[in-house]
Amino acid sequence: RHNINITAIAQGASERNISFVIDAAQQARALNIIHQAFFEIRKRLSLVVIGVGNIGSTLLGQLRAQRSHLLARGFDVTVVGLANSKKFVLNPRGIDLARWRQRLAASRRRMIPQVLAREISKLELTDAAIVDCTAAESVVAAYPDFVRANLHIITPNKRANVLPRSEYAALMELLQSRQKYFLDEANVGAGLPIMSTIRDLIASGDVIKRIEGIFSGTLSYLFNNFDGSVPFSALVKDAWRRGLTEPDPRDDLSGQDVARKLLILARQAGAQLDIADVDVETLVPPKLAGGPFSERFFGALARFDDKMAARLKRARSHDAVLRYVGSLAGGRARARIQEFRWDHPIAMTKGSDNIIAFNTKRYSQTPLVIQGPGAGPDVTAMGVFSDILKLLHYLPH
Ligand SMILES: NC(=O)c1ccc[n+]([C@@H]2O[C@H](COP(=O)([O-])OP(=O)(O)OC[C@H]3O[C@@H](n4cnc5c(N)ncnc54)[C@H](OP(=O)(O)O)[C@@H]3O)[C@@H](O)[C@H]2O)c1
Repeated sequence: RHNINITAIAQGASERNISFVIDAAQQARALNIIHQAFFEIRKRLSLVVIGVGNIGSTLLGQLRAQRSHLLARGFDVTVVGLANSKKFVLNPRGIDLARWRQRLAASRRRMIPQVLAREISKLELTDAAIVDCTAAESVVAAYPDFVRANLHIITPNKRANVLPRSEYAALMELLQSRQKYFLDEANVGAGLPIMSTIRDLIASGDVIKRIEGIFSGTLSYLFNNFDGSVPFSALVKDAWRRGLTEPDPRDDLSGQDVARKLLILARQAGAQLDIADVDVETLVPPKLAGGPFSERFFGALARFDDKMAARLKRARSHDAVLRYVGSLAGGRARARIQEFRWDHPIAMTKGSDNIIAFNTKRYSQTPLVIQGPGAGPDVTAMGVFSDILKLLHYLPH
């Protein structure tokens, strides 16, 4: 489990001692592991948090606030490392979470993920994980290095789960061969228990027939508020001004974020798909898709308002509303605007809610529905925290 190779082992005739031979380089870690197994009352977990923006910093606040609660339940969780895009800091005795900003700011170590992995492995930690709270490809590219450095991975970052199929399979194989966990609850629906639900359904023998829902908080907000009183482009501009969209709103309107979440669920359900296999309706007119973003985008988008207004009118004539939904059925993944009658649960969402309905062999009459905010620092960090708790439970005492 800890990847320490035992060259020779012998048990004394008295049955009171066991001797073994290992590589001298692994001596310190082996001693720590034995000490922990025999004498520690608490389960210990060391964390290195990479990315201290919205989610990372909120998570650090939650870990600090819950420390005594965790200790009382027998869990000793220590943050031994932190990184942003520029620097990293490591301290095997733990970083004071009341002063983590100063500790990171004072560090002179340049953040290079592979170097960080090497430095962590020198700490000879027993049970440890990286918590990747970035959206960085370069951090994901170093996941194999972190796994080889004996670290589990916990992350809200979707990038690993949408890697091309062969790279994704290689990473999953490496994790399995090294007996390391990859925990990704906050990849879909932030703190909502979507990933654990699909895994539990499948592991318990249920069969997924259809998954359908609203996976984007931004698109949820836009369509929940699109009642015809304000043109669609003005609604997008207002959401952008209020910080409810990505800095470039085309990242939301393109539907790609929904496509990524569908791909993640599809792979969990066993479908061999890649991102190009997801059929996506973009809300960005082709002429406006390229080039750098500027506020002039909204003026150009207004030229397409009539089209959106006509779609809304048509939906209303069917007693329905418009929603941007993702669906997965029969191995096919689609993201697009659809009409839903007023009394349908998907039509009744509010604010920036996500809603996901699982139609399965067991949940066939009424679907299993999960609904709630699908973005925001507090709920997303909670999703990551729930993965830390899961890891603590998985680790043997
Ligand atoms: N925000 C949400 O509601 C939400 C919901 C679900 C999932 N997520 C996911 O959570 C992750 C974090 O989101 P966020 O909102 O916290 O983003 P954010 O506020 O932009 O923070 C990103 C952090 O990552 C760091 N970073 C960027 N590139 C890095 C690199 N190469 N190496 C090390 N650190 C790097 C940044 O460092 P600097 O400070 O130096 O720039 C920053 O500290 C993303 O994958 C996002 O998709 C977010």
